[in-house]
Amino acid sequence: MPPTPRRGARIAHIGIAVRAIDEMLPFYRDLLGLDEHPLDDSDGAHIAGLAAGPQLVELLEPLSPDSPISKFLEKRGPGIHHICFAVSDLDATLARCRAKGVRLIDDTPRMGAEGKRIAFLHPATTGGVLIELTED
Ligand code: CO
Repeated sequence: MPPTPRRGARIAHIGIAVRAIDEMLPFYRDLLGLDEHPLDDSDGAHIAGLAAGPQLVELLEPLSPDSPISKFLEKRGPGIHHICFAVSDLDATLARCRAKGVRLIDDTPRMGAEGKRIAFLHPATTGGVLIELTED
């Protein structure tokens, strides 16, 4: 039997860990020409959103030393932190991942920025990439 057809996922945003938004925002905004897209703080991080077509680049600056972004910066330095995919059915996608042994950081979806449900997948089981899932 062929697999059930489903709408493909798309990239919603790319999260980039920065030590200071003020240092990196001019590069993306003024040199590359991305438009600012205001976003609320989330997960212990101050976020500068930039529109790159329908996708966003999110510069993530830690708000405190114990935030996840602080820990990432300590271990890996600045750089790409996560990729967020919007999927058509978050619960079904999580169920498929769980069934195949993908480690879920969020066992059930939680509220993310902009009131959308999100869940993270652990990079240990996704080829080293921290993946965030959200819904269209
Ligand atoms: Co994100």
